[in-house]
Amino acid sequence: MTDQQSEISYGMFSKKYYIMTPGPTEVPREILETIVSDEALLPDYQEIYDIDVKLVKKLLNNDGEVVIMGGGATVGLEALISTFISENSKVLVLSAGYFGEILAKLIEMYHGKVYVIRERQGRIPSIEAIERYLSKNNVDYVVFAHCETSAGTIFNIEEIAEVVKENSNAKIIVDAVSTAGAIPINVNSSKKGVDAAVFGVQKALNMPPGLAVISLSRNIVEEMENLKPKGYYLNLKLWLNFWKTAGRLPSTPPINLLYGLRKSLERIFTEGIENVYRRHMLVSRKLRRALRKMGLKIVAESDDIASPTVTVVYMPNSIKSEIIVRELWEKYGILVAKALGDISDKAIRIGHMGITATLDNIFAVIYALSKVLMSKGVSINLEEVLSLLT
Ligand SMILES: Cc1ncc(COP(=O)(O)O)c(C=O)c1O
Repeated sequence: MTDQQSEISYGMFSKKYYIMTPGPTEVPREILETIVSDEALLPDYQEIYDIDVKLVKKLLNNDGEVVIMGGGATVGLEALISTFISENSKVLVLSAGYFGEILAKLIEMYHGKVYVIRERQGRIPSIEAIERYLSKNNVDYVVFAHCETSAGTIFNIEEIAEVVKENSNAKIIVDAVSTAGAIPINVNSSKKGVDAAVFGVQKALNMPPGLAVISLSRNIVEEMENLKPKGYYLNLKLWLNFWKTAGRLPSTPPINLLYGLRKSLERIFTEGIENVYRRHMLVSRKLRRALRKMGLKIVAESDDIASPTVTVVYMPNSIKSEIIVRELWEKYGILVAKALGDISDKAIRIGHMGITATLDNIFAVIYALSKVLMSKGVSINLEEVLSLLT
C-alpha cells in the first residue's frame, strides 16, 4: 500500500472504495440489480407493497400497521408528527444531540407543547431523569432518536419503553433511522415495545435513499381512529384508509425501491436477524477497542451507550476532522463523515451499517486512519492496534 497524495491506493485491500459513512451506505450489487430489473420498472405496486409491509412487520415485531412512502426518513418523521401532534399534545423529547434537537423543533412546528430532557453529545438522558419527569408530569408522547447519529450514542429502547409504560400512558415514538435492521426494535404493545418507529432505507438496509418506512403499534393505530389529522401526503390515517379501502396509495411510491426493500429485508432474514444484530455489536466493539489503542477518544462516554451502527471519535492534536475525511478519501478510498453539531470540526463519524459492518472494513479504516494520523506526527503502534482486529 502506498501513501501517495491524491492517488487512491487500495493495494492491500480487495475493494476499491469503502463507503463507511453513517448513510447513505454502500449498496450491494444484488439490490442495485433488483431496482433496475424489468419487474421493478413495471407500474403495478400493490403486490410488492403488501410483501414489504409484511417483511417490515416481521423485522420490527410489529402488531399494528406499516406505511411506506416516497421520501427521505424525515418525511416519515414529519408524517408521524403531523398525524399525532397538535396544539393539545404534551410531548417529552429525549435529546442527546443534533437529531434529538430536530425532533424537538419539528414537534414545536406542529404546535406541540415540548419539554426536552437533554444531554450534551456523548451522553444520553438517564433513566432516572426520565422517570422523575414522568412521575410528576402528564405527557401524551415520549419521543427520541434511538441512535443519535451525530454522536454515536444509543438509547436503551427497551429500558425506556418499560419506564415510560410504568409511569405514564404516553405513546413512544422513535426515530429509528440509523438503527432499524441493525439493532432489535419492537413496535408492539408489549412491555418493551414502542408505539411508532420510522426509518429510511439508506442506512442499515443498504439501499439508495428514497423510502420512508413508518411502523405503528396496534395501540397507536387505535388512538389514531379518534384523531382528525390535517394534510394529505403526511396524513398516515389517510394512507392507511386508502390502502384498506381502495387497495392503492394516495401517491405513487418509488416502485423500484419497493422491490429493493424486499431484496434488502430478505438478505437480512437470510443471514438471520440475530446474526445481523450480533455482527453489528462485535464489529463496533472491536472498532472502539482499536481506536482507543490508537490513543483516540470516543465521543460516546461509555461502551453501554455507544452505538453498534456508528462510531464518532475525536481527532487528536486539534487536527481538523475535515482534513482527515479528505485524506482518507483521497489517499485510501475510504469515505467517512465529519461529525455534526458542536463537535463537527473535532470528530469524525465512521458508519458500520448493514454490509459495511465487517471486520475487513474496520481493518481498512483503522489501517488508513492510523497512517493518516502518523503522517501528522501522532504516535501509534500500528501492529499492536491491528492485532486487536484479527
Ligand atoms: C437519527 C437520524 N434521524 C434522521 C435523519 C434524517 O434522515 P433523512 O436524511 O433520510 O431524511 C438521519 C440521517 O442521518 C438520522 O441519522
